[in-house]
Amino acid sequence: MADKKIHIFDTTLRDGEQVPGCKLNTTEKIELAIKLEELGVDIIEAGFPISSPGDFHSVEEISKIIKNATVCGLTRAVKKDIEVAADALKYAKRPRIHTGIGTSDYHIKSKFNSTREEILERATQAVKWAKNFVDDVEFYAEDAGRTDNEYLAKVVEAVIAAGATVVNIPDTTGYCLPYQYGEKIAYLVNHVKNIDKAILSCHCHNDLGLATANSIAGVIAGAGQIECTINGLGERAGNTSMEECVMVIKQHKHLGFYTDIKTQLLNPMSRLVSETMRMPVQPNKAIVGANAFSHSSGIHQDGFLKDSLTYEIINPEEVGAGESKIVLTARSGRSALAHRFRKIGYEFTRNDVDVLYERFLKVADTKKEVMEEDLHELAKSHKPIEEIA
Ligand code: KIV
Ligand code: ZN
Repeated sequence: MADKKIHIFDTTLRDGEQVPGCKLNTTEKIELAIKLEELGVDIIEAGFPISSPGDFHSVEEISKIIKNATVCGLTRAVKKDIEVAADALKYAKRPRIHTGIGTSDYHIKSKFNSTREEILERATQAVKWAKNFVDDVEFYAEDAGRTDNEYLAKVVEAVIAAGATVVNIPDTTGYCLPYQYGEKIAYLVNHVKNIDKAILSCHCHNDLGLATANSIAGVIAGAGQIECTINGLGERAGNTSMEECVMVIKQHKHLGFYTDIKTQLLNPMSRLVSETMRMPVQPNKAIVGANAFSHSSGIHQDGFLKDSLTYEIINPEEVGAGESKIVLTARSGRSALAHRFRKIGYEFTRNDVDVLYERFLKVADTKKEVMEEDLHELAKSHKPIEEIA
């Protein structure tokens, strides 16, 4: 059987931009949208048009510029929101309205002071209204992660009958465990009669650090789209990280999935988002962190220098991260030291490296990392053993 394509829905410009301090202006949003299209994302969620005139303008301008990707605008299940989103999307080659409402009892009772029946009705009305403006309508069942599966299945069936092409199952609070989220998707696949008429989408938050794991569990169970952001940006602890999901799918080919993401662009994209949003990436972040391809302990360095596969499952060039790094610290070994000397033009014998290593350790104990200039100092002040003899 041919591999199944997993659609990548990027929400950096909407859920990612909700992060305090990450607000973008229209020029910045356009620049990122163009790069997201180059990266190969299938859907760009460009904003929440009714939220502000600035966001409306950004969605409108992005719609004019994007050629191949679907451009999506978020709305509540409110007629006016949907009309405004449709207006903002009017120039898009492939417009999508993303509308929805909270379906968990927390949302139904505390947020809406409503009933399950009323929410079901509002959900279907919203989809029907959106269908007057665009063919492609995605429905989100907010807090689906904590929504009773039987009721969720009813909502999903009703919105598909109303014309939804994609149904988003957000774990809005990042509550689910991977097996629970996977079972939720499997439940919908098995209990919603018209499920073949729509794509199920994973939208997982990272409150327990499980967003990527949950999204992968979701596609294994039958979902066909992952909603994610660059660098995992998003409300609170963030959204699912695109780079992680894409590389899980690429590394684990046996799952039978693929995406259209050009993985060599992942690191440049991560840097651009980090700079534009003024939001640093944690150094130990998978795929795009500064240390993702750095080796610093002697045991790892020795193994890596013999065969990179001993300690690396991804070639850094495959994700645009350049070369792996051998970092010199007080935990590094002789082979790493010799390697770094070689890289800057010094070829030492094994005996010389032994002597230099003792001096290197003294320097290393005084600093966090031994830098290239320290190596030059060490090399220049070293008398080769053969000369001494
Ligand atoms: O987390 C969430 O539920 C959302 C929806 C608005 C899709 O971001
Ligand atoms: Zn979200």
